[in-house]
Amino acid sequence: MVAGNWKMNKNLQEGVALATELKNNVTNPQCAVVIATPFIHLTEMARLLKGSPIAVAAENCADHASGAYTGEVSAEMVASTGATYCIIGHSERRLYYHETPDILREKVRLALDNGLRVIFCIGEVREEREANCQNEVVRSQMEGSLFDLSEENFRKITLAYEPVWAIGTGLTATPDQAEQMHAFIRSTVAERYGQAVADDTTILYGGSCNAKNAAELFSNPDVDGGLIGGASLKAPDFMTIINAR
Ligand code: 13P
Repeated sequence: MVAGNWKMNKNLQEGVALATELKNNVTNPQCAVVIATPFIHLTEMARLLKGSPIAVAAENCADHASGAYTGEVSAEMVASTGATYCIIGHSERRLYYHETPDILREKVRLALDNGLRVIFCIGEVREEREANCQNEVVRSQMEGSLFDLSEENFRKITLAYEPVWAIGTGLTATPDQAEQMHAFIRSTVAERYGQAVADDTTILYGGSCNAKNAAELFSNPDVDGGLIGGASLKAPDFMTIINAR
């Protein structure tokens, strides 16, 4: 899978223009392609991309089903737009909006209950990498929000390893660092759900992945694709990354 995360970029008209360019050019991709857009784009994106190989994702959803939560958007509302995926647990949500493992577990449950597939982000901050405790951090993120899922539900999760120090910084994990962590993530999934589920789990790399470094990152056996921020905002770059998978 190659997924774009637009974050808080592109107004509606700009988003429609980018999605139209992608729709016209991404006709026979060799992998699943997803674009995650702001909530206000979702209905229009789902309509525009219907029948194309590009799926639509929300970047977040609420941790409550419905009710008096001003400004929030529920998983049910996301699903009602025609979007089929939801990113949950992005480090920007964890850091800036204080989303805890418990909150994220609830969001995952609500997304799955409403028929959405989940792209769940995990990854350590720089200090944790410097202290060489990245494996423990990533394991506890999975245990805290995912590992009480049934096997059937866990199979609807795509994992995205995004080392926080690599996001938007131009500092990419080396292919070796990415492979080591992805192999660790897969072995952790195998301990919990067994090797067959682990082998079927899609594990994306994210963090300054771009048109130049994507092919090398994706050539690792445990790197199954990418979650792309900045480079997903330009159609030619995003298409180069899709073709690198
Ligand atoms: P960049 O590709 O801009 O580093 O962002 C990665 C990311 O956070 C995707 O979710």
